[in-house]
Parts: sequence; structure tokens; C-alpha cells
Amino acid sequence: MADLSSVYCGLKLASPLMVSASPLTADLASVKQLQSAGASGLVMPSLFEEAVRSDAKMLSKYSDKIKSYKDALDIPVFASLNGVTEGGWLEHAATLEQAGCDAIELNIYYVAANVNESSDQIERRYIDLVYKLRAHIGVPISVKLTHQFSSVAHLVKRLEDTGVNGVVLFNRFYLPDIDVETMTVSPTLQLSNSSEALLRIRWIAILREQIRLSLAATGGVHSLDDVLKTILVGADAVQLCSVLFQKGVDELGRLRDALDQWLDDKGYVGVDSIKGLMSYGRVADPSGFERANYLQVLEHNS
Ligand SMILES: Cc1cc2nc3c(=O)[nH]c(=O)nc-3n(C[C@H](O)[C@H](O)[C@H](O)COP(=O)(O)O)c2cc1C
Repeated sequence: MADLSSVYCGLKLASPLMVSASPLTADLASVKQLQSAGASGLVMPSLFEEAVRSDAKMLSKYSDKIKSYKDALDIPVFASLNGVTEGGWLEHAATLEQAGCDAIELNIYYVAANVNESSDQIERRYIDLVYKLRAHIGVPISVKLTHQFSSVAHLVKRLEDTGVNGVVLFNRFYLPDIDVETMTVSPTLQLSNSSEALLRIRWIAILREQIRLSLAATGGVHSLDDVLKTILVGADAVQLCSVLFQKGVDELGRLRDALDQWLDDKGYVGVDSIKGLMSYGRVADPSGFERANYLQVLEHNS
């Protein structure tokens, strides 16, 4: 049996396979099932500041849930926070920490739709917020990002400088659709597939050697190959969501056992022995992660 353990945001996980923020982690019965099925950690659904504003009890309900999860589970519990105002982020993060969560994942979900706001202003807002939060609370903090930044690598480096513990790459935007009959805008929610993992794999590969932060992959991780690829490029944790909706939570155990078997078959002692083996700085031809790959794809298909 291989050693599947991995350290993520300073917390020891029994394997890299966590469950990301979603309805799967929304109630006690479900999270107990996730732990039994093999989850090594979980992220609770995000607490939205708007929800707290419209229902003052929301914050205490969320805190009670953290306490009940911590009483019932052995695995690390990440609270997830989605704020709007600086005061909201700071105040709520402190309450979640007091409730006993092991770490806080910041779900900064912001659509940059203001033509007068530059990318630098937007990034500075992220950095300022994370910097203040880092100074305000003691538990590990991870930041869940979307990929829509001009320079993901630079932003992650600036985040590292704030003292946060990890980044989660990448959240998915749920895109609005238009119903042409009723002429209304409606949100869509589609589960992912494996092709979406490639974006995460590329960026984790690029970042791994350049930063010391923990890295988690979220988005499109469905199969053993997806799990292996994210670890090979340097992920410390792999957050699963869509695959568990599609195949059921027992997929956690199947993926964990398959990872174990693969490591044994290849003669690796554990996850740490393969972590980052294929990161940008360690593969023979790193240009595959960059522009040269673009040229090759065009040439092969012309
Ligand atoms: C129904 C649903 C609800 C979600 N709720 C949250 C949330 O509250 N906070 C958050 O950060 N991500 C949320 N997500 C995003 C997931 O945590 C995950 O990052 C994303 O679905 C990509 O992973 P996947 O490809 O494995 O689904 C949600 C996803 C789904 C499908």
C-alpha cells in the first residue's frame, strides 16, 4: 500500500482527494457519507454575504454547521466565504474561525464588468482583501481563483506575498443564457468533463516551481488519469465535485484505490514521490506548456 498522504495548506490529508464546495458538503448526513467514501477533506458551500444580510441567522446557522461537522468528522473542514464588502469578509471570517473550521477558502467571485476599472485595480482589490484577512485570522487561508486574469502567475505570486497558504485553481463561471422565447436571461449550470482539467494542469505545472504555496486543482477532475496528471504537475490536493454528482460519492474510494494501485504498480512509495515530477521546471521540454505547443497543434492539424 502506497502512502497517499499529502500536506495541503499546512494540513495533513490522508490522500489528495477532497470534495469541493457544493451541495454535496451542505449537510451532516452527506459529509459523513463523503468521509466514509474516502474524502480526505471537504470545503463547505460558500457563505454569501448577501445571504447573511437578508437573513441575520445565516451566519450562526453556518457556524453551528461547522461545529457539528467538526464533532462528527476526522477530516479537515474548510469553510468557504464569499463576501462583498471588506467589513463583511473580515467579520464573517473571524466568526467562522471561532466556530472551529480548520481553514477558510475564499471564493472571490467577481465579474469584471466595469469598463472604467483596470486589471491592476481589480487585482489590487484582491490582494488588499486577502492581506487584511491574513492579518485578521489565524487558520490557514486558501484563495479560489478563476482563470480570467491577464497574468495568473503574477497574481498568485502576489497572493503568496500576503502570507496565504494556498490557491485553488480554477473556479468555473456559471454563464447566463438567453431564452429567446421569453426574452429572459437565465443562469445555466452544467457539470464539467475531463477536458476542463487541462487548463488547471497547465497552470499548476507553470506555477509549481515558482511558488511555495499549496496548490489545489478544481474543475474537470473525473478520472484516475486526471488525478494523476494534476499531482504529476504539482497539485497538493484535488477537489472533486461534478464527478461525484455524475457517478456517486463512492467514486472517491474507487479513485483513491486506483491511485494506490497505480503507485504500487509503478514502484512509487507514495504521492509525494510523484508530486511535481512533470511540472514546468522538471519536464524535458517545458515549451509544451507554452506557446510552442500552440504552434505544434496548428501544424499537426493543418
Ligand atoms: C451545484 C454546485 C454548487 C457549487 N457551489 C459552490 C460554492 O458554494 N462555492 C464555491 O466556491 N464553488 C462552488 N461550486 C464549484 C465547485 O466547488 C467546483 O469548483 C467546480 O464545480 C469545478 O469542479 P468540478 O469540475 O469537479 O465540478 C459549485 C458547483 C456546483 C456544481
